[in-house]
Amino acid sequence: MDHLKIKVPATSANLGSGFDVFGIALETPFDIIDIEKSEKIEIIVQGRESHFVPLDPKKNTAGIVASLLKTPVKITISRGIPLSSGLGSSAAPAAGMAFALNEMFALGHTMEELVQIAAQGEKSASGTAHADNVAPAIYGGFVIVHKDKIISLRPENVGIVAVHPDIIVSTREAREILPKKLSLEDISFNTGNAASMVVGMMKNDIQLIGESMENRVIEEIRSTFIKGYADVKKSAISAGASGVTISGSGSTLIAVCRMDERKRIADAMMNAFTNNSVKSEAFITTIGKGIEIIEG
Ligand code: HSE
Repeated sequence: MDHLKIKVPATSANLGSGFDVFGIALETPFDIIDIEKSEKIEIIVQGRESHFVPLDPKKNTAGIVASLLKTPVKITISRGIPLSSGLGSSAAPAAGMAFALNEMFALGHTMEELVQIAAQGEKSASGTAHADNVAPAIYGGFVIVHKDKIISLRPENVGIVAVHPDIIVSTREAREILPKKLSLEDISFNTGNAASMVVGMMKNDIQLIGESMENRVIEEIRSTFIKGYADVKKSAISAGASGVTISGSGSTLIAVCRMDERKRIADAMMNAFTNNSVKSEAFITTIGKGIEIIEG
């Protein structure tokens, strides 16, 4: 196999209560990555915000994975996932490359190994090798990343609205401002919600999933980066969302709701950002599949 084209989903990490542990793949937006065997690693980036993406294979998350696997390829990334948005834009190329190169060069890595390899690629962007974006990109659905294990579930008909404001948040900075310790009371609260989230995902229970997104401490601190956060959250709940939280380290906010409520909730959230003089775009989506081969 000399050529492969893949579709790599955006992802949303944390879901509030599962900091660095939970993640979901989203049906939209996504990146398309085209890979061809070559003499050396070469990267071309096109599509949204492509001029901000480093082309040096040592700095690009896709290039880092290709170097790690010692696989010289020409990589063309057509970007659809907004950059620095909390939707896994740096994880997608890393996950995509780990998956595609494993197929193309018949490397024989397991899915769990691919997650670890992709997390090394993403480390260059965020400073730490957390796998809560790369794992759902590879597995699809809802994933729990715990130690070196990945547990995945396939919830169905969970409406997701991801509203991305025109605010850039650096994951590195959004991690640096977090406290190193939480109180027992806060840990207990977050653990209760994380446990409830898993049950919600197993039962496709939209109300339980939404209510379980509430997080103590982390969300409150990070919300200071997102102008209009409180208004947007309130507007989503008033429009029928069962829960709202920051996607990954932000700036996107995701709401969980019934599939038929998504448009109304997206409009309410965008209006609330507009009222705070913040431009935004909405992705009306659902929990989706992992990486798919579309050619090759
Ligand atoms: N779990 C990570 C964080 C995800 O919240 O910092 C970053 O995309």
